[in-house]
Amino acid sequence: MEDIKRLRVVELLSKTPGCDVLAKGWVRTKRGNKNVSFIALNDGSTINNIQVVCDAAVFSEDLLKDITTGACLAVWGKLVESQGKGQSVEIQASRIEIYGKADATYPLQKKGHSLEFLREIAHLRPRTNTMGAVLRIRHAMAFAIHSYFNSKGFFYLHTPLITASDCEGAGEMFQVTTMDLDNVPKTEDGKIDYSKDFFGRQTSLTVSGQLEGELGAMSLGQIYTFGPTFRAENSNTPRHLAEFWMVEPEVAFNDITDNMNLAEDFIKYLVKYALDHCMDDLKFLNDMFDKELISRLEGVINTEFVRLPYTEGVKILMESGRKFEFPVGWGIDLQSEHERYLVEEHFKKPVILTDYPKDIKAFYMKQNDDGKTVRAMDVLFPKIGEIIGGSEREESLEKLERRIAELKMDTRNLWWYIDTRRFGTAPHSGFGLGFERLLLFVTGMSNIRDVIPFPRTPKTAEF
Ligand code: 4AD
Ligand code: MG
Repeated sequence: MEDIKRLRVVELLSKTPGCDVLAKGWVRTKRGNKNVSFIALNDGSTINNIQVVCDAAVFSEDLLKDITTGACLAVWGKLVESQGKGQSVEIQASRIEIYGKADATYPLQKKGHSLEFLREIAHLRPRTNTMGAVLRIRHAMAFAIHSYFNSKGFFYLHTPLITASDCEGAGEMFQVTTMDLDNVPKTEDGKIDYSKDFFGRQTSLTVSGQLEGELGAMSLGQIYTFGPTFRAENSNTPRHLAEFWMVEPEVAFNDITDNMNLAEDFIKYLVKYALDHCMDDLKFLNDMFDKELISRLEGVINTEFVRLPYTEGVKILMESGRKFEFPVGWGIDLQSEHERYLVEEHFKKPVILTDYPKDIKAFYMKQNDDGKTVRAMDVLFPKIGEIIGGSEREESLEKLERRIAELKMDTRNLWWYIDTRRFGTAPHSGFGLGFERLLLFVTGMSNIRDVIPFPRTPKTAEF
């Protein structure tokens, strides 16, 4: 019995009773009386616990006393049909080894801690039901992203995290330097001398892998990136992180309609994947946080997204009679309240807004003939607002260069990007899906800090 193979809780719960088993995990709760103790053991493999039954006749009082919430155990015993309600099998324990005790200072004693409190103990919160469910779903969505693109013949391209260019042109970049900040080298005219820095130039953490992603599309045809991105935007909102993950497909020969089709099909695939593979966790989140979660997910896969030009969207907002905190007018960058009005109240389904004013969008977007708008597309979702941002790209060298000049951008860091328009340019499109925004939607959580294990936000970089 000593050399028996450990089974994970998820495996034990679906096993036919009658055999000897070994389980390992952390104690969620212990209850009982002087004759028998019931331990709920969880090893993270599933939201469900395995019940361990310990007869007082078999175990010393000393051992049982050390089995407290948070302790880590190995349990040998027989898998038997459960007498009690709530589980079909349980372990009748014959031997227990305590790997690690947890005394009364263990912070997760009781259930029902607030999400805010759990953020302060992010090192332990993966042991809660809620964070366990979220992290398993997060894994499943990451896996599904690769499986979707792989099945469609996309190549996973690794784009750099350290870069000298600002893709979105918003100036929200974290600098990367090895210079001594107490003694920064200066040029003769008093400016910082970046030629002395590690890369011999000013560098930052990337805000998007798109520019290099386009190089991939112009060679491999269809690629996607999936990695961390960084934005030093000082917005402390439930939807912004300073470090988040983005998925960015980029496809040669796709126009904006193909791009919208891809975005819609992709999101529906991911949501369906969650419904097909994560139901235990979704049911838990549905019961605990958001009674409409599962029906909202089912709704999305069965509905056609609305496709609407920005100009029409603004008209709807202006005619809504609604008093918004930020006033609406043509040319404004839509706020989350505007996006959510369109999605949740007006159309009651996801909306893809297209053809935004060029002045509120990035330099690389394809210019429309009206001279005012670009071929942008934002996918707006209930409860989230913008979940995807993308566009058809400007493939004309002349128009791209003119736009870069208008925006007074530094072309020294972009020559290689512009070269793709010089040599064999082609229509192409792509978009970026905020991975944590997707997870907000799929898990029904309302704060982005609760869908990433160790969130990075202004003034927080603990753990
Ligand atoms: O709309 P964005 O800024 O688009 C781009 O970066 C493009 N280069 C993407 C592309 O076309 N390849 O960002 C894309 C998405 C947003 O729609 C949002 O879901 C997410 O990234 N996002 C954030 N998520 C969390 N925290 C932040 N601070 C985010 N900023 C953007
Ligand atoms: Mg955007």
